[in-house]
Amino acid sequence: MILDGKWRQSAEVTPDGSLLILDQRDLPHRISWVTLTTPEQAATAITEMWTRGAPLIGIVAAFGLVFAVRNNPSDDNFNTSYQYLVQTRPTAINLAWALNRMRDVLLPCPVSDRYAVALETAKQLIIEDIETNKAIGRYGLELIKKHFQQHNHKPVNILTHCNAGWLATADWGTALAPIYMAHDAGIPVHVWVDETRPRNQGALLTAFELTNHGVHMTLITDNAGGHLMQHGLVDMCIVGADRVTKRGDVCNKIGTYLKALAAFDNQVPFYAAVPLSTFDHSLEDGVKEIPIEERAASEITHLSGMTSQGELAEIRLTLEGLRVANYGFDVTPARLVTGIITERGMRALPTS
Ligand code: MRU
Repeated sequence: MILDGKWRQSAEVTPDGSLLILDQRDLPHRISWVTLTTPEQAATAITEMWTRGAPLIGIVAAFGLVFAVRNNPSDDNFNTSYQYLVQTRPTAINLAWALNRMRDVLLPCPVSDRYAVALETAKQLIIEDIETNKAIGRYGLELIKKHFQQHNHKPVNILTHCNAGWLATADWGTALAPIYMAHDAGIPVHVWVDETRPRNQGALLTAFELTNHGVHMTLITDNAGGHLMQHGLVDMCIVGADRVTKRGDVCNKIGTYLKALAAFDNQVPFYAAVPLSTFDHSLEDGVKEIPIEERAASEITHLSGMTSQGELAEIRLTLEGLRVANYGFDVTPARLVTGIITERGMRALPTS
C-alpha cells in the first residue's frame, strides 16, 4: 500500500525484531503506528483491535510468540504463551494457523536457537501473506475482467462488507486485492462499501483504503445492498472470511449472510476471497460448528468519530443500561456462495 507517498505494510519488522503496526483505532482520522515488543502488547493489540482482520491477527500473534521466546525460550514458556495468544479472538482460524506454524517449527528446535528461528518464521509469514494476497488478486482480477468484457465494457459494480483489504493483512488484502488489480489494469470498478456496524470497518477502513488508492466507491448503510441488487446495481459481491469449512461455508463479519441471501435471490455472484490458511478442514457445518465471537455492548451503544473542532471523541448513542447482543460474525452456507477465490485459483461451489 502507498501511505503518505511511501510503500508501507500494515505490519513491519524493525531492525531490532520488534513489530511496527498501523494502529487502526484512530483511522481514518489519524495515521499512527505502534511498536509491539512483548507478548502482552501483541495480545492487547489483537483483543482491543488496534490491529484486526484474520490474516493480520495471525501475524501479530506469531510475533507475540517471537517476543515470548526472546524473553524465555523454554517449552513451558512457549506453551503458556501459545495458550495465552490463541484465545485472544475465537473466530478467525488464521490466528491458530499462524501459531501452529510457529509451534511446529520451534518445539523441535534446540532452545538456544529458538529466538532466531522464531523471528525468521514470523518474518516469512509476512512475506507469504503478501504473495498469497497478490495471487488471490490475480485470480479475482480474471473474474472482474471476464465480467467487464462480457458486459460491453461497462463499469463493474462490486459490493463488499467489512474490511478485507491491506489493513486486514500485511498488504494488498484478500477481497480488495482483485479490486486494486482491476483498477490498476484500467478496468473501471466501482465499489459499494457497506458501513459494517457496529465497528464500521467499511466506513472507516475500506473507504479509507479505496479512496487512498483512487478507487471509485460509494458508502452505503448495511441494509442497502438488497435494494441495490434488486435494481441491477451490483454485478458481484466479494467478501473476505475468518473461517471457511471443508464444504465451503463462509464465516465473515456479521451481516455477510444477509448480503449472500440477497445476492442469491437476485442472481448476483457472491465470492469469498481467502488464503488457504482460512480453511478449517476439521469442520463441515459452519453454522453449527464455528465459534462466533461476542463483543462488548459499547460497540453498539457508543460511537466514536471526529468533532467539528477536529478532536476525536466518543458519544453514547442509546439509553444507558440497555440489554445488547453483539455478535461479531455470521456464517453463509456454501449453497449461497458462487465461488471461493484462493491463491490456487477459483473454486466454484454448487449453489442451490
Ligand atoms: O472483527 P474484524 O474487523 O477483525 O473482522 C474482519 C473481517 O470480518 C474480515 O472480513 C475478515 O477477517 C477477512 S480479512 C482479510
